[in-house]
Amino acid sequence: RGKRAFIAGVSDDNGYGWAIAKSLAAAGAEILVGTWVPTLNIFESSLRRGKFDESRKLPDGSLMEITKVYPLDAVYDNPEDVPEDVKANKRYSGSSNWTVQEVVEAVKHDFGNIDILVHSLANGPEVSKPLLETSRNGYLAAVSASSYSFVSLLKHFVPIMNPGGASISLTYIASERIIPGYGGGMSSAKAALESDTRVLAFEAGRKHKVRVNTISAGPLRSRAAKAIGFIDMMIDYSSANAPLQKELSAEEVGNAAAFLASPLASAITGAVVYVDNGLNAMGVGV
Ligand code: NAI
Repeated sequence: RGKRAFIAGVSDDNGYGWAIAKSLAAAGAEILVGTWVPTLNIFESSLRRGKFDESRKLPDGSLMEITKVYPLDAVYDNPEDVPEDVKANKRYSGSSNWTVQEVVEAVKHDFGNIDILVHSLANGPEVSKPLLETSRNGYLAAVSASSYSFVSLLKHFVPIMNPGGASISLTYIASERIIPGYGGGMSSAKAALESDTRVLAFEAGRKHKVRVNTISAGPLRSRAAKAIGFIDMMIDYSSANAPLQKELSAEEVGNAAAFLASPLASAITGAVVYVDNGLNAMGVGV
């Protein structure tokens, strides 16, 4: 049978999560997505109304099918973690079972197991502030939404992942090199995500035969990236300085993710794989 993938962090057809879903679907996987609760209605209605039909097209001409969309907020592990004001918020009270533990229980109930887990989400409320001006709460929120969210998703999903399964997250080179403007503790959060990739590769590999890798992606004009504010500059910088002078497409990251999730990558785990037109290899701008 085909593999089953759960992709956390799909709210429109512009981001890396959508592109990874498409590449996995093109390779024959069944697609389940986790959509951030406040964006659930707009995503589902756009999907239903055919707004994404053009971008659902796969190389063979068929349209990507999303078997099920689960509301998800990956900063909460279970209902006891959810503060009263969030529970009462209209955008949240309209949906249910969206904490990590509840989503995994629902997937288990609906499908039994999965083969592939993709984490394509990040959030840093103070991303536009330099680290020196970041508050403790802003920093911890960035790490909670962007790093621990992966630990939590893998922790809850790994018991229902088939041996030989794989998980993939998305990181950014600001974890290891100075990228002014990527603030609010987001650089710290990506450093944690990369370190956790190694430790979790060991733990999930030994215990469950599941592989854990992360893709360090180049700049993409996604909704999240536009919110940071310097994405056009980063794209121009990459075109000017990277070994490959072309704009990076989300599809190229999707295809790398499909490779990493497949048996072709059966010996690759604990790795940070650059999909960035080679920009990471440069020592100076040219
Ligand atoms: P995106 O906006 O398509 O994806 C981010 C997603 O995270 C959104 O769907 C948002 O709804 C979701 N999200 C935020 N908080 C959440 C929460 N608490 N629970 C569940 N979902 C939540 O943007 P993009 O850029 O495709 O981001 C995907 C990943 O790629 C992120 O990890 C990002 O840091 C990474 N990345 C992006 C780069 C870029 O230039 N766009 C470069 C390198 C890495």
